[in-house]
Amino acid sequence: MRQIWITKAGPPEVLQVKEAPDPAPKAGEVRIRVEASGVNFADIMGRLGIYPDLPPIPVVPGYEVSGRVDALGAGVETSWNGRDVLAMTRFGGYADSVCVPINQVFVRPTGMSAQEAAAIPVNYFTAWQLIVVMGALKRDEVVLIHSAGGGVGIAATQIAKHLGAHVIGTASASKHAELRTLGVDHLIDYRTEDFETRAREITNGRGVELILDAVGGESWKKGYRLLAPTGRLGVFGLSAAATGKSRSMLSMLVAVAGMPWFQFNPLALMNANKGVFGVNLGHLWGEVDRIREWGDQLLVLWTQGVVKPKIAKTFRFEEAPKAHHFIQDRGNIGKVLLLP
Ligand SMILES: NC(=O)c1ccc[n+]([C@@H]2O[C@H](COP(=O)([O-])OP(=O)(O)OC[C@H]3O[C@@H](n4cnc5c(N)ncnc54)[C@H](OP(=O)(O)O)[C@@H]3O)[C@@H](O)[C@H]2O)c1
Repeated sequence: MRQIWITKAGPPEVLQVKEAPDPAPKAGEVRIRVEASGVNFADIMGRLGIYPDLPPIPVVPGYEVSGRVDALGAGVETSWNGRDVLAMTRFGGYADSVCVPINQVFVRPTGMSAQEAAAIPVNYFTAWQLIVVMGALKRDEVVLIHSAGGGVGIAATQIAKHLGAHVIGTASASKHAELRTLGVDHLIDYRTEDFETRAREITNGRGVELILDAVGGESWKKGYRLLAPTGRLGVFGLSAAATGKSRSMLSMLVAVAGMPWFQFNPLALMNANKGVFGVNLGHLWGEVDRIREWGDQLLVLWTQGVVKPKIAKTFRFEEAPKAHHFIQDRGNIGKVLLLP
């Protein structure tokens, strides 16, 4: 098999394709011949050496794949053989062959392409947890979605619009026209405008009921202030720490120092009628059965045309460095995939 390794912490060029013997599925696992692997911002943080969850480098990253089952471990029903699937992988997804515990594997609905399938697990499960499970977004509420053009942002917009909510998105200006066509009601170029001021103007001073913020640092302070009474701030990443293409502990320290260490104390939350919650899909491996329920609902929503994965661009395995450059250059509107 071929795998893409993070050979050391550094710029995108540290990603290298290497050959290895085909893996054999253990008991309770299936082997998937991969057709597409999802690229996530966490992989970039991992490559930069600032992602604490990543196993020690050198490592094969990758949280999700789609493909066809071609070998079964002991105890797995034979009906799985040959099935088209999508799966969550606990690293190792940047590979053309990967073994996965069966409870992390979903059957692909008829008609779903391999590329759409690989774009679903991380982006849509995260968006579902943020908006439905913990954010409890309701009809006519206003949600502010940061990085609205990213994979999670587009998934979150589709789910929010399905619930009848209004969406304010932040994104680089070049993405605004396309994001409008994808359902974002108001767009803010947070790199030239102050998003707190603009979102307050858009909501006539009221603020918003839900914020999805994986930028972190100072952004969380502004977001907390921007919450309307009963508003909820969902924090789920720290992309502000990824300022360059090589490892910078200084950027990490600046992002961490800018966090609202003192704003969210229990009394302040109580008296302001505000909530703050965190989401990390990569820390829910003990709750896979719950995630499966979310996945089953999302696959039904795919058959209804609500869930519509948007592929920004695909890259061959050998082009993995280009894929990371593309995201870090803020070029993507939607999901970036690697194809073996
Ligand atoms: N906790 C979880 O379970 C979880 C799961 C999935 C994702 N996340 C987090 O959610 C965020 C979005 O993930 P994603 O996969 O949707 O992202 P993505 O598709 O890789 O989107 C990347 C976009 O993020 C924006 N961005 C913001 N800060 C950036 C920076 N420092 N460098 C480059 N681009 C930056 C850029 O768009 P603009 O220039 O338009 O803003 C860029 O195009 C990431 O922080 C990720 O770590 C967390």
